Amino acid sequence: MPIPADVLIANRDTFRNALLDWYRANRRRLPWREEPSLYKTVVSEFMLQQTQVKTMLPYFARWLEALPNFKVLAAAEETQVVKLWEGLGYYSRARNLHRLARAIVALPEPPRAPEAWRELPGIGPYSAAAITSITFSAPIAVVDGNVVRILSRLVADSTPYRDSTAAAKSLGPLADALLNSGSPGDHNQAMMELGATVCHRKNPLCTVCPVLNLCAGRRSGEPEAYPRLAAKIIESRTVFRAWCRRDSDGAVLLHRTASSARRLAGQHELPSAEHLGLSPAALEKSGALLKTKKRGITRYAFTEPIHALPAQKVSAPLADGLVWVEPTQLESVLMSGPHRRWVRELLAE
Ligand code: ADE
Repeated sequence: MPIPADVLIANRDTFRNALLDWYRANRRRLPWREEPSLYKTVVSEFMLQQTQVKTMLPYFARWLEALPNFKVLAAAEETQVVKLWEGLGYYSRARNLHRLARAIVALPEPPRAPEAWRELPGIGPYSAAAITSITFSAPIAVVDGNVVRILSRLVADSTPYRDSTAAAKSLGPLADALLNSGSPGDHNQAMMELGATVCHRKNPLCTVCPVLNLCAGRRSGEPEAYPRLAAKIIESRTVFRAWCRRDSDGAVLLHRTASSARRLAGQHELPSAEHLGLSPAALEKSGALLKTKKRGITRYAFTEPIHALPAQKVSAPLADGLVWVEPTQLESVLMSGPHRRWVRELLAE
């Protein structure tokens, strides 16, 4: 790795100018870029942490409409905040953003230095660098997954990394050496934009890349070989779930996770065999298999068979966390994206 990195750093001005010219001509016109503000940058960075731009755009628009600034956000109820986030997943981001707004409005003015931002709730090294470079021109490089991919390809870095965090740590000095400290915000956004629109994980569009001539990965003929990240170990899990409706009014039986839970707090989902106090075999026998859903969550591959459960088999009073939700209330209760889709599909059948 040292030889290509040295060559790249020796050519850093060419790299910076080519990247910036490309970004200024080709960047996507995104709402937080057109009339930027600290608030819009913060909200967009939180939403973009685990979500692609095209998915989050409608959420961003609804959020700005309902919660236009830190003050309104800080004063909002948590239920509204989480409801506006519904479908984006990783709800701790919404709660952290809410806590962050409360911390910011309690200060005489928002801090400008990345180190001060890192002291605030929900802010890690990535967010601190992105927010302060974009809003206050702080000279600090952002190293997210996109940037790791670009840097490792530029220098054909064949180091095997445990994960993207380890790669980001190792490539940090190269990111710093390349940073255009005259325009750090645009430089960082240009790197992320290049990763999102050109330097794809699979089938990178090298022919339109502005820094193609400086890329050792491209010269190697195998840009996709970088970065070398250890394959994730995926574990299979099966969760049996029930679709159960009350005869009198068609209410749907759901499980509501306790508000104090770390994950999924306050979220409704189709109850699992465990929520119902049934064995998987008993739930399987209780009624027809309606659907089998598959999804990946972090390192788990979930298979979720959904069986019909006759309402008479549900004991009254309901076990802890179980609730009947009437059809007219279904759209207003908090539900994760997949459960929302499944409930809509099942209702339509
Ligand atoms: N991903 C996260 N933040 C981004 C930004 N400001 N521009 C492009 N992609 C991003």
